[in-house]
Amino acid sequence: MTFTIAIDGPAAAGKGTISKAIAARFGFDHLDTGLLYRAVAALVLNGADPVAAASTLTPDHLEAGNLRSAEVAQMASKVAAIAGVRRALVAFQREFAARPGGAVLDGRDIGTVICPGADVKLFVTASADVRARRRYEEQAAQGATDSYETVLADVRARDERDMNRADAPLKPAGDAILVDTSDLSIDEALEQVTRLVRDRLPRDR
Ligand code: CDP
Repeated sequence: MTFTIAIDGPAAAGKGTISKAIAARFGFDHLDTGLLYRAVAALVLNGADPVAAASTLTPDHLEAGNLRSAEVAQMASKVAAIAGVRRALVAFQREFAARPGGAVLDGRDIGTVICPGADVKLFVTASADVRARRRYEEQAAQGATDSYETVLADVRARDERDMNRADAPLKPAGDAILVDTSDLSIDEALEQVTRLVRDRLPRDR
């Protein structure tokens, strides 16, 4: 059986946490597609050409140590606006989505471009302030020293770039279900999403 769950949304909205937990709960594979753009960005920061880096990306590149840094995130949203970079990453994502046994992909354009026929499409969002607060706490716990204001400015700059690029801009698919996590705990968000997924699973699962 193939069963694809597409989870899109802006930076630090809770997509990663929700995707991981939903994949574990239903026994599906999970692909954090942001990691692909972050891996390309890390290579570009080391001097590589963006399209060449995207075209030769290997699973090893996704294991690089610095992919979660703020510097890599900003560069990721710059390389993600390059059509040739996006094109080079399409086949890998679609193959992943078609894995037998079910797949959860989270990103910006999964429901709109990569998997328009996904079985479940969610658009996970939260206010910029709540998202920046979460990202700030996440980064501070890992020893980063950026202020909350800097993190908020970074999140806003990235959203702006992601929503306004010509190729695959960040936006909800017409048939996506909106999940606003601003006032939800992780458990509440997970409960809501679990219910949505369960309702759409084939009966024999
Ligand atoms: O974890 P966070 O939400 O902060 O970001 P991410 O999902 O790791 O994505 C990093 C950047 O990659 C985003 O700001 C986008 O510019 C880009 N991206 C994209 O364009 N398309 C995707 N499917 C996933 C990420």
